[in-house]
Amino acid sequence: MDFRQHLATFQEHARRRAGQDEPQPAGGRLPRALIRSIQRFQAGEDGDGTSVIAAAERAGDPVYLAAVRLFVAEEQSHAVRLARVLRYAGAETIGGHWTDTVFVLVRRGGGLRLELMTLMLAEVVALRYYRALRDGCGDPYVSGVAARILADEERHVPFHLDRLRQGFAAAPRAGRFAAAVGWWVLMVGAALVVAADHGGALRALGLARHRFVTDVLRLFRPMAASVFGRRVAAAQQGAAEQEAAGQKAVGQKAARQKALLGS
Ligand SMILES: [Fe+2]
Ligand SMILES: [Fe+2]
Repeated sequence: MDFRQHLATFQEHARRRAGQDEPQPAGGRLPRALIRSIQRFQAGEDGDGTSVIAAAERAGDPVYLAAVRLFVAEEQSHAVRLARVLRYAGAETIGGHWTDTVFVLVRRGGGLRLELMTLMLAEVVALRYYRALRDGCGDPYVSGVAARILADEERHVPFHLDRLRQGFAAAPRAGRFAAAVGWWVLMVGAALVVAADHGGALRALGLARHRFVTDVLRLFRPMAASVFGRRVAAAQQGAAEQEAAGQKAVGQKAARQKALLGS
């Protein structure tokens, strides 16, 4: 796989960002739940990318490495934009959130493939989240920021998928299958955690939690298929749907118990 085209695109967008003077309005009002949610996404976007850059360095392709460095810079520009949104709404940034720590722990010790598979979970969640923010926040400035971030995330997905396809091309069938099942399980888990953790914000944006989860999984399906192949992907989705059904049953049981306790 030749990453020169990806690198050229990242370079073009870095040039555009450098030449742009983005507005920094003040005095915005956003629902409290949405502010808390944006604070967590801002912290998540604000990583320094050390671990993915180190993994890309070990992969030994200087063009890919240069593209990864620009990808990390682009994610950091999202953190800067979201920090502006928070200032606009009279709120501060936060240092970090436990979900970021989980992400770091999952990735620690793995190679570039695990690094990218974990990053992809965040990218897919981001695709649905920023679309909801763009369409549902009701504030032209915040909506514009979400639209610009969303456009970047839409380019990140094929960039990671191209490298993942290359990374798994020579892997044995059993290894590919295990990786694919693991990826689906992690994706379902990540979607459920974000839906639970950002439920108030999603509601404020007009998106029900269960809809968020199903939309994320619908986005993810062709991505998993593009890395691991359709037959393997169909099998993994069956496993993931079973997992989701199990989680739903657990949630319903918890809700019933809560209702009983409350009555
Ligand atoms: Fe981002
Ligand atoms: Fe991204």
